[in-house]
Amino acid sequence: MRNFRDSWKIRIARTLTVMLKNAGIDGTVDPSQVIAELPPKPEYGDLGFPMFGFAKLFRKGPSWIALALTSALTEEDTHSPADREASGVFAAEGPYLNVHLDRGTAAAAILGPALEDPSFGRPGTLAGSRIMVEFSSPNTNKPLHLGHLRNDALGESISRILAACGAEVRKVCIINDRGIHICKSMLAYQEHGQGKTPESEGVKSDHFVGSWYVRFSRDLKAEAEALKAQGLGAKEAEAEAPLQKRAQQMLRLWEAGDPETAALWKKMNAWTVEGMKETYRRTGISFDQYYFESQTYLLGKEEILKGLDRGLFYKADDGAVMVDLTAEKLDKKVLLRSDGTSIYITQDIGLAINRNRDWPFDRLVYVVGSEQQYHFQVLFAILKKLGFEWAGNLYHLSYGMVNLPEGRMKSREGTVVDADDLIDRLRDDALAEIREKEREDAIDDPKEAAENVALGALHYYLLQANPQKDMLFDPRESLSFNGNTGPYLQYMGARISSMLRKAAEALAAETTVPYEALTKGLLSGDAEWELLKTLAVYPEAVADAAARMDPSVLAAYLYELSKAFSRFYHDCPILNAPDAELSAARLALSRGVLRVLKDAMNLICVPFLEIM
Ligand code: ARG
Repeated sequence: MRNFRDSWKIRIARTLTVMLKNAGIDGTVDPSQVIAELPPKPEYGDLGFPMFGFAKLFRKGPSWIALALTSALTEEDTHSPADREASGVFAAEGPYLNVHLDRGTAAAAILGPALEDPSFGRPGTLAGSRIMVEFSSPNTNKPLHLGHLRNDALGESISRILAACGAEVRKVCIINDRGIHICKSMLAYQEHGQGKTPESEGVKSDHFVGSWYVRFSRDLKAEAEALKAQGLGAKEAEAEAPLQKRAQQMLRLWEAGDPETAALWKKMNAWTVEGMKETYRRTGISFDQYYFESQTYLLGKEEILKGLDRGLFYKADDGAVMVDLTAEKLDKKVLLRSDGTSIYITQDIGLAINRNRDWPFDRLVYVVGSEQQYHFQVLFAILKKLGFEWAGNLYHLSYGMVNLPEGRMKSREGTVVDADDLIDRLRDDALAEIREKEREDAIDDPKEAAENVALGALHYYLLQANPQKDMLFDPRESLSFNGNTGPYLQYMGARISSMLRKAAEALAAETTVPYEALTKGLLSGDAEWELLKTLAVYPEAVADAAARMDPSVLAAYLYELSKAFSRFYHDCPILNAPDAELSAARLALSRGVLRVLKDAMNLICVPFLEIM
């Protein structure tokens, strides 16, 4: 597609290079050095190019360069005025070169691809690369909670965005299904479960397991309180509590392969995993491969021993294998305990190596909470030390905590907000809203629509924030139909769809307008022009979101697009336009917007609704 920004960057770079040559200065300007900005006021034009960056090269002030560039460009235009790849009216404005595009020419160049080019919005900036994305990675002692929903939305969305840029993406999940925390829910169930099952209790299976974890925590707390009353410190009391010791004993039994423990573990894990997969299905999240800690936790030990042989690591006095990362501004870190038990970092080393063998990647992205930042710095440093060539391309997509207005989400005491419960609540609220607006009859399946509105509200709210920041999830605000929300976008999509349906009925045959006709300036009103310009930068928004690993870039883009459409819809009659050709042109513009809206909504996991 003819991208005006890029064409202008190329033209300016070329012209500046010629100017350098004419001035007898050694040097060239590359298009990548030319910065395109949106001028602060519409009267300054559609594109602004600051000249500050070239002052040193020319040994002249930026305003002088802007003026000289204007003359040079004018000169060029007198020689080949027709069909310039970057056309328009330009002028120097202080240190800027400002360009007013020809709205007619631009309209045709933008709308054609937006409507028909299958590769529109597929910038190809990552073509040929293989990227593995790990996300969600739950523990099997309790169901998914609000924090996982942020993780899942980020992981799924960034995977779709990377793929939209041409990368081959593999989505993976590590299920942490062994360890002391898993034994805790097992122990409580073994003790008090009395043959109860999720079916017998009528509870979703992962919630069933979670309830035993809550029970364990409660009982442990009671034991610890009793010990504290006898004068023990808080930490000591918890460590000395009989339940804590029994959980540790159970872990030893599990590691030794005790059949009874193994059977209990298998049963309870199957319940959790089954329940979680149901939540993934419900939220539109999927994986290409699951890894299970129980199958991978011994990996890594061998690699550490090899590294020890090569002198990369050292042995401490107590026999533990350690790494010294002080040169990397990190700490000294245990890699293998002297008793041989597995450590989190060791497992992650083994897992990364194993994954690269399974599916050789150029890049591996870990979507994991910001509290594990240090862990990933250490992990990446160690893999580099071990000499893996891909170790330089590991990325921790770190995200902040999500809180509810009611207060912090804690998992230990069981006051955590379960993902399923939250979505249920959002769905019920959305359904109530649909009923209140008396939209029930217009919608085929109001309950399904409400579920999709809930997911749209949730995913949009979670993704419009910068990943690194802690955030408050406000269910009520997320569901609002006007404002910067998912339902607002869904509503916009439904409104355009309904208008296009009406148009199809009203106009017997689908009226199309040849793009060349647009060059006559059919879509050159201010609202139309703003909307077209927003449409034109969609591919850049996708590429930018991928480069920054940040879906909020696309959320912001979608909000801009919807606002621009709203203005257009308000200012420009479509079905009642003054003449049929204009009506067709405005319909074509609406179709282009709808296509991009749908596409971008899918990239940020907001379901599209025909009717709402
Ligand atoms: N399950 C872990 C937790 O809940 C997160 C695992 C992150 N992934 C990894 N490869 N370390 O904290």
